[in-house]
Amino acid sequence: MKINAFAAAKKRAPLAPWSFETKELRCQECVVRVLACGICHSDVHMIDNDWMMSQYPLVPGHEIVGEVMEVGSGVSHIKAGDRVGIGWQKSACMHCDDCLHGNENLCDHNVPTIVGNHGGFADHVVTDSRFVFKIPDGLETPSVGPLLCGGITVFSALHYAGMTSGQRVGIIGVGGLGHMAVQFASKMGNHVTAFTTSSDKAEFAANLGAHDAVVVTGNTFSHAPAKKLDILLSTIPAPLDLDNYINLLNSDGTLCYVGIGEASANVPLLPLLQKRRRVMASPIGGRGMIRHMLDVADAHGVAPIVELFPFDKVNEAIDKVRNNTIRYRAVLMN
Ligand SMILES: NC(=O)c1ccc[n+]([C@@H]2O[C@H](COP(=O)([O-])OP(=O)(O)OC[C@H]3O[C@@H](n4cnc5c(N)ncnc54)[C@H](OP(=O)(O)O)[C@@H]3O)[C@@H](O)[C@H]2O)c1
Ligand SMILES: [Zn+2]
Ligand SMILES: [Zn+2]
Repeated sequence: MKINAFAAAKKRAPLAPWSFETKELRCQECVVRVLACGICHSDVHMIDNDWMMSQYPLVPGHEIVGEVMEVGSGVSHIKAGDRVGIGWQKSACMHCDDCLHGNENLCDHNVPTIVGNHGGFADHVVTDSRFVFKIPDGLETPSVGPLLCGGITVFSALHYAGMTSGQRVGIIGVGGLGHMAVQFASKMGNHVTAFTTSSDKAEFAANLGAHDAVVVTGNTFSHAPAKKLDILLSTIPAPLDLDNYINLLNSDGTLCYVGIGEASANVPLLPLLQKRRRVMASPIGGRGMIRHMLDVADAHGVAPIVELFPFDKVNEAIDKVRNNTIRYRAVLMN
């Protein structure tokens, strides 16, 4: 079939209409008609080839909500007409220890939706149905897409950083990922401090469930949190001033990166050692965790705040992500 999409022809190029023909449907694949697709900062990194793995023409989009149109002969868990979601990951080997432990996101052979494949800035997507998730009825189509990448990334990272409830959690950056992280951490029973460079977001943070908001200007904080934090989650797509943040952590506290704004970081070891603190990083989440995250979002009313754009305004939407004027997630809707 012919798919009409928006693609970047080369590094940093604005997106333009582009179409391509798909191959015959394989037994594990399905065709999904795109209803909506979020714009993650990873789409911007990919357009810019920041990670040196982009292939052009590049069709971004990996926070996809759509309707199943057709399934391959080996597909039984979804059927035509189902409302489904697709995130960053397109497939994995399914046989390695990581896959068998439900950590398909850690598989050495994991394939991203928009690396070597075409994503959701399109009218249809053909993909591996094993990474296609039914959407609970309570979650609304315009806002559910961002949960499939941004949402699962922060949910899984907070889990593996040790978040339970009754803890003090700091979220650095209140963008697409960050504003969902504030909601998850708060609604799951934690005291949340948001760290933001935007004063309007500091004023709005309480509406997301934050108990405190620190405005960050350069290396300076508007104030220090009243108590040390058990977990700090960094969601910013820029280098982090680790020296400043490590000292906000409690003993045995964990700083977890999900936004990677630099290839490597200078970790100050003495303040780490003195308080047995940890630094870690975390990629998306496995399939079981995605199902669990969707149920938690449904049960606790965690939903991204979205600005909707028609697909032909995709460049306008990307510009707002680039210049940090989006509040809080851009979503394209057909
Ligand atoms: N680990 C994973 O699996 C995974 C998955 C998805 C995305 N990501 C990555 O996570 C990062 C965030 O993605 P996103 O979609 O949430 O991006 P986003 O919507 O653009 O939000 C990023 C936020 O970081 C803050 N920020 C931006 N530039 C900054 C700078 N120079 N210094 C300090 N703060 C800055 C801003 O928050 P304030 O206005 O509050 O300061 C901004 O809203 C990206 O690098 C993305 O690639 C990782
Ligand atoms: Zn993403
Ligand atoms: Zn595997």
